[in-house]
Amino acid sequence: MTVAFEHTSVLLEETVVALQPQAGMTYVDCTLGGGGHTEAILDAADCKVIGIDRDPSALKAAGERLARFGERFVPVRARFSEIAYVLADLGIDHVDGVIADLGVSSPQLDLAERGFSFRFAGPVDMRMDPDASLSADDIVNRWREEEIARVIFEYGEERRSRAVARAIVANRPITDTLQLAKIIAGAVGRTKGRIHPATKSFQGLRIAVNDELGEIERFLPAAIDVLRPGGRLCIITFHSLEDRLVKRFMAHESGREAPRDAFGHPVGTFRLERPRKSVTAPPSDPNPRARSARLRTAVRLPHE
Ligand SMILES: C[S@@+](CC[C@H](N)C(=O)[O-])C[C@H]1O[C@@H](n2cnc3c(N)ncnc32)[C@H](O)[C@@H]1O
Repeated sequence: MTVAFEHTSVLLEETVVALQPQAGMTYVDCTLGGGGHTEAILDAADCKVIGIDRDPSALKAAGERLARFGERFVPVRARFSEIAYVLADLGIDHVDGVIADLGVSSPQLDLAERGFSFRFAGPVDMRMDPDASLSADDIVNRWREEEIARVIFEYGEERRSRAVARAIVANRPITDTLQLAKIIAGAVGRTKGRIHPATKSFQGLRIAVNDELGEIERFLPAAIDVLRPGGRLCIITFHSLEDRLVKRFMAHESGREAPRDAFGHPVGTFRLERPRKSVTAPPSDPNPRARSARLRTAVRLPHE
């Protein structure tokens, strides 16, 4: 059975404008998902896109959607931190642009059986790659209370992380996501507005399960390594933890934070031009995911 893979891409036109795809060039979409960004790039120019994802269901859905592009689209199952190895395997030295639309896809969030959602009962899973060794079940049912509190505090930015971790450990075994959400809600108490009390804790667990921040930290320098001079790096982030990593990296690699010489020039070796101003979606965008999305673009300087 083919399950519909419905994901509305964010900042689609903005990403194509930022990437500036040209005929004959090669790009990497590091978060292929449903293939929305890749499709827009392939439609914009007679170029080639290598689409990476660690979720086989995304590769399957995107493969069907993008079949009309034939050999111009190359799907690869991998983690994006492995971009250099992916390209080496394909015999490619350098590419003309790299994009990443971070985080999870709508099907990952919305399908109960993927275990990301506090709205439905599903297994406590949260793995983007269903073959990965660590799942949310391991964390909530096996990790020490202090370690659970740490990921919920650091990655979920949940102020009541200690109370949440205590409640999780006291209620083991936890067998489904609805049970987990209720335990967390009981520990957090009321939250302001319409945000579910388990939102932050679920984000913290998900980031830990998928090592999302570690992946970004390893990916960013690897992406610059594979870009040709003038090549573009376009990254869409969805929360402050991701955005801070990307912003700091681009500032650092462009010498923005470097000491200056007597003429005001940054001192050191830098690989990126000064980053462009980040782009967000207009408030009228009907896609709720677009509200927190931010696109940052940087351009590769000539190799030293
Ligand atoms: C927000 S969705 C991308 C949606 C896509 N841009 C579109 O328009 O359809 C993010 C995708 O990136 C994948 N992903 C996230 N982190 C990854 C990583 N470190 N390595 C490989 N794939 C990753 C997820 O599995 C998910 O399918």
